[in-house]
Amino acid sequence: MINVIIGPAGEGKTYASVGAMIISAQRNKRPVLWAIIRDTHTNIKRSTVRSINKIFRKTSSLVSWRDDYRQLTIHCNPKVEVDLFGIDDPGTLNRLQGTEYDGIWLEEPAAMLERANSGLSEEVFNDALLRCVRAQAEHSRLSGCAIALSGEMLSFW
Ligand SMILES: Nc1ncnc2c1ncn2[C@@H]1O[C@H](COP(=O)(O)OP(=O)(O)O)[C@@H](O)[C@H]1O
Ligand SMILES: [Mg+2]
Repeated sequence: MINVIIGPAGEGKTYASVGAMIISAQRNKRPVLWAIIRDTHTNIKRSTVRSINKIFRKTSSLVSWRDDYRQLTIHCNPKVEVDLFGIDDPGTLNRLQGTEYDGIWLEEPAAMLERANSGLSEEVFNDALLRCVRAQAEHSRLSGCAIALSGEMLSFW
């Protein structure tokens, strides 16, 4: 399943994507592991982490971050674990390749030079797609290996 969410800043794309991760844990009735991938680790910290913390500002004990914002746990039931990847971060591709994810969220895949966002290449999307297809073939009961693309621009590749 591929979800594409496009909309202006502040419309609720990150909110909806966080909701999708929590619902995927509920539907699978077990803890899930997701990946969030964007252009740089700096942009993850500068924008994605801030957006997620803002969503949980009144319930901040529900989220915990580790490894300099490379890992997130949402303490819902069943819980959601998230690996966050800036594709500029050394070692990222190795970490991605060794793990099976229940969902992969590509954050801001369209490059926007004026916002210092270099975007994600089509290869990253193809790789995510391949992983999800494989995961679904291996676990036929898996209800939601998902790819979410979230960004402000209508056209990327
Ligand atoms: N469905 C919603 N219900 C309540 N608040 C929301 C909802 N969607 C968004 N918000 C609020 O709007 C803010 C911005 O949403 P966000 O998902 O970060 O936007 P985007 O990712 O599209 O830029 C969130 O911090 C949250 O407070
Ligand atoms: Mg957002």
